[in-house]
Amino acid sequence: MLVSAKEMLQKAKAGKYAVGQFNINNLEWTKAVLLTAQENKSPVILGVSEGAGKYMTGYKTVVGMVNGMMEELNITVPVALHLDHGSFEGCMKCIEAGFSSIMFDGSHYPIAENIEKTTELVKICEEKGMSIEAEVGSIGGEEDGVVGNGEVADPNECKAIADLGVTMLAAGIGNIHGKYPENWTGLNFEVLAEIQKLTGEMPLVLHGGTGIPEKMIKEAISLGVAKINVNTECQLTFAEATRKYIEEGKDLSGKGFDPRKLLAPGTEAIKATVKEKMELFGSVGKAE
Ligand code: 13P
Repeated sequence: MLVSAKEMLQKAKAGKYAVGQFNINNLEWTKAVLLTAQENKSPVILGVSEGAGKYMTGYKTVVGMVNGMMEELNITVPVALHLDHGSFEGCMKCIEAGFSSIMFDGSHYPIAENIEKTTELVKICEEKGMSIEAEVGSIGGEEDGVVGNGEVADPNECKAIADLGVTMLAAGIGNIHGKYPENWTGLNFEVLAEIQKLTGEMPLVLHGGTGIPEKMIKEAISLGVAKINVNTECQLTFAEATRKYIEEGKDLSGKGFDPRKLLAPGTEAIKATVKEKMELFGSVGKAE
């Protein structure tokens, strides 16, 4: 059964590790992430962007697929199904469809409007026992059409949003979706420390997990980050393994064109990436 991300993230924050949010795109992605979480006894968050939700034909399809798969694969570790960078309307649709968690990305609104809309959604999520993530200071780069300028969050605004009763808070600290450019100056730990000081127990969320050096990931966790989002890295490893299979001509030999064979190396590559991240984030064994 899907669960809210509240308990797993509070435990992670207290235990100084982070739970990974891995974005899903289709059946192979979902299966790879769920199996890896189960094999490594790790709690996990399945992230669904609005674009990916649309691609999978709608949120109800996603809910049906994830619930069915968890039952068929006997997944017993805690799993949250979470909308990533949702609009207000997208959040309402996911609440209706049976997600267990949402992110309302109001970072592009003036703070008063972000507060107003977040407050409304917090109330609904409380009633439904769902978790809700809010965002202050936009994450740089582009994810599925959501473009951010990469502002560094104002710690006082973070406190104002945290005080609304959200479950977890994403704050921009120089992180970017997608690959990091050569001239990236790194995460702003001073601001992260200030945000953590003002928001206390609130689990903080680090977006743009692809390509952040290990040392920075560990430092971020030590400063209160309890959820780390990874999307692009699974896409890159999936594409690389699939390309290798085709370049080696394996789709041309025997029944190598069978989609179950063609997509298998990419699926295994996602599993390896997810495992590596779970080990780095420290969530392995935390669901025992
Ligand atoms: P990456 O694509 O950079 O891993 O970021 C993922 C993310 O933050 C999802 O919200």
